[in-house]
Amino acid sequence: MKPIKVALLGCGTVGTQVVRLLDEQADDLAARAGAPIELTGIAVRRPDRHRDVPKDLLTADAAGLVASDVDVVVEVIGGIEPVRTLLLDALRAGKSVVSANKALLAESSGELFAAADESGADLYFEAAVAGAIPLLRPLRESLAGDRITRVMGIVNGTTNYILSAMDETGANYSETLEEASRLGYAEADPTADVDGYDAASKAAILASIAFHTRVTANDVYREGISAVTSADIVAARTLGRTIKLLAICERVGDSVAVRVHPAMIPRSHPLASVGGAFNAVFVEAEAAGQLMFYGQGAGGAPTASAVLGDLVAVARNRVHSGRGPRESAYAALEVRPIGQVRTRYHLSLDVADRAGVLASVAAVFAEHDVSIAAVRQEGRTADASLVIVTHAAPDAALKSTVDKVAGLPAVREVVSVMRVEGEES
Ligand code: NDP
Ligand code: HSE
Repeated sequence: MKPIKVALLGCGTVGTQVVRLLDEQADDLAARAGAPIELTGIAVRRPDRHRDVPKDLLTADAAGLVASDVDVVVEVIGGIEPVRTLLLDALRAGKSVVSANKALLAESSGELFAAADESGADLYFEAAVAGAIPLLRPLRESLAGDRITRVMGIVNGTTNYILSAMDETGANYSETLEEASRLGYAEADPTADVDGYDAASKAAILASIAFHTRVTANDVYREGISAVTSADIVAARTLGRTIKLLAICERVGDSVAVRVHPAMIPRSHPLASVGGAFNAVFVEAEAAGQLMFYGQGAGGAPTASAVLGDLVAVARNRVHSGRGPRESAYAALEVRPIGQVRTRYHLSLDVADRAGVLASVAAVFAEHDVSIAAVRQEGRTADASLVIVTHAAPDAALKSTVDKVAGLPAVREVVSVMRVEGEES
């Protein structure tokens, strides 16, 4: 059988595991694909630093490797350029592409799919969202006959690793981030993780596939975890909640709302027990009801598993002259701004403990048409702590309420503001 020739772009955390699995599982992969899968070259930035892979495969000339006689390009470099140009060149030349690059897919999937369509090549990117978890294929294929209404979950391993450690052991933020980088979970630039860019890219990809529309990372409302304080963690714990960085994609009528932000969820919620670098995603569909996907969301070997799955799919398509799924963006839905999205807030305030304070705070909520679900006051001295949880209201109204409350003379400090998810609204 004619081998399927593969060029690998990048050989870092993920790439080294792809090389290992290709070698260790060569016979099984050939049997499953219907042809041997042959690695013909590996492009890296600094070939002299890669002593664990065969020297004759290494090159610093990624463009030359893409232009060589290969059937498939597997990209695990990351970032936008030069990768975008390399992958467009590959697709235009009829070479199928497997990528783990959520940043690129969330920015340029339309352009990449168009290039793939022109030449009849495949474009697969299961590893780009939630590491090892088979998620994009079920959304794209298994649920193609259903109407998905909501996708919500933890899609960034690094931030989940940090928040879990802060919650469980009171660990220090920056030390835990260093540990996540050492373990290969974090992006080359970890601000992509902690500032929510990575999760926003993944949310854009999930929303695009789930709702058959085109959503880019710029369409996603984004807040990272760098503003989450130990006071927030303690406030959450006091109320039987924990804090997670959530990606939430919702279909609202003829529009979609896509957001990434930290949120308090009840400790009894299934997402609350997702620890370390694990990811979990809930999908709600009209006919299927609720589905949950769970597994390792980051790390070399788990991500390589998803890459290899795509590679076998591409190889099978080549062997049987088939094609993988194309872009499905026919719904062309509008993207709702965050201000119009209905959310719930938790607010923790330091206030003066005197008559009329609660009434003055409650009046601001009423003025903005924000309904209060629960209030709790602690402290009997001059200072008191006031915790308020709202019912769902437009995010813009909640934000204005917080701004006005912060300016009340009786409010000494707004200690914690956090959206609440995973409870009846
Ligand atoms: P690394 O930083 O560990 O590896 C990147 C690799 O790309 C290195 O081998 C580097 O070469 C090479 N490289 C960088 N620039 C160039 C260039 N211009 N030309 C050729 N090679 C280049 O990244 P990861 O393996 O962690 O991630 C790779 C991709 O996979 C990213 O898109 C990431 O978002 C995605 N991903 C990562 C996951 C993870 O857990 N790590 C999980 C899911 C997806 P050199 O080594 O010589 O510097
Ligand atoms: N940096 C990413 C994360 C890698 O922490 O989730 C997996 O996409």
